[in-house]
Amino acid sequence: MAIILGLESSCDETAAALVTSEREILAHALAGQEEAHRPFGGVVPEIAARAHVEVMTPLVAQVFEEAELSLSDIDAVAATAGPGLIGGVMVGLMTGKGLALAGGKPLVAVNHLEGHALSPRLADPALEFPYLLLLVSGGHCQLLLVKGVGSYERLATTIDDAAGEAFDKTAKLLGLGFPGGPAVEKAAQTGDPASVPLPRPMVGRADPHFSFAGLKSAVLRARDSGHYTPEDIAASFQAATIDCLVDRTARGLASAGDITALVVAGGVASNSAIRGALRALAERNGLPFIAPPPWLCTDNAAMIAWAGVERFAADLSDPLDIPARARWPL
Ligand code: KG4
Ligand code: ZN
Repeated sequence: MAIILGLESSCDETAAALVTSEREILAHALAGQEEAHRPFGGVVPEIAARAHVEVMTPLVAQVFEEAELSLSDIDAVAATAGPGLIGGVMVGLMTGKGLALAGGKPLVAVNHLEGHALSPRLADPALEFPYLLLLVSGGHCQLLLVKGVGSYERLATTIDDAAGEAFDKTAKLLGLGFPGGPAVEKAAQTGDPASVPLPRPMVGRADPHFSFAGLKSAVLRARDSGHYTPEDIAASFQAATIDCLVDRTARGLASAGDITALVVAGGVASNSAIRGALRALAERNGLPFIAPPPWLCTDNAAMIAWAGVERFAADLSDPLDIPARARWPL
């Protein structure tokens, strides 16, 4: 059995976790930064990086203490090396390098997207490759054919905004607060999803790509018309987003070939209406539907530790001079 320390700091969550190759999460700790960013209505990179510096090493100490382990007990250190806000990525990666050097342990540099992509296998031991993954987060909206560790085929991506970005911008336009995704989901619960006529960008197109910029502009027009409540706009926006995600994912399924399951991951996958619609799509296609529990969908270090487990098992580790990357496609 291998024990891996995972570190995550690519956006506005600082996190550390200890996870075993038996899928046991021995300890995990996470510090959000919502309060620091709320006055700005979005993540401020400089503020995020400084906050990561303050809390990263205490979180590492905390997980070792909780698991009653020390550096000598672990097999490798896995840290997010990108993509993300570069100042934040540097904090977690440098912490990982320092710990790897001090403990004489291998360093596993993890692509944050790979962390999301493999997280469903931490949650569900039965999930086998290949699976079709809808990866929906604040920075990405992609359909990936996950064939194995390190083997990903991108079938589709967004031509403009990511789905999470659309939720965040909608929340800002409607004055629902920050962070946007959960705020829109909550407001949508008391709104009428059929009240505001909104477009469904890309729906019906032969290729499986996504687009959300037009939806955001339509939300702005609906708000400025003064005819609708924020709750009705939120509910209508969420319904339109779901239609887009389901239609595009159905296209992806049609071209994916033989797969074991339809899987969703990333922060937006914590939205229960979206999970429900994708589950129904999987059922219509006779496929199992796998979604990690919501806390594993939003950024966390357990998924980075798990990607570390999978890469370490495949004999993949990295030299100490590996760079931090703001951009790093899977
Ligand atoms: O995966 P994640 O935590 O960070 C990135 O890698 O981007 O995803 C964050 C995104 C944000 O855009 C946030 O608004 C969205 O996920 N999100 C949600 C919900 N919870 C988080 N979107 C819709 N409904 C939610 N409940
Ligand atoms: Zn993420």
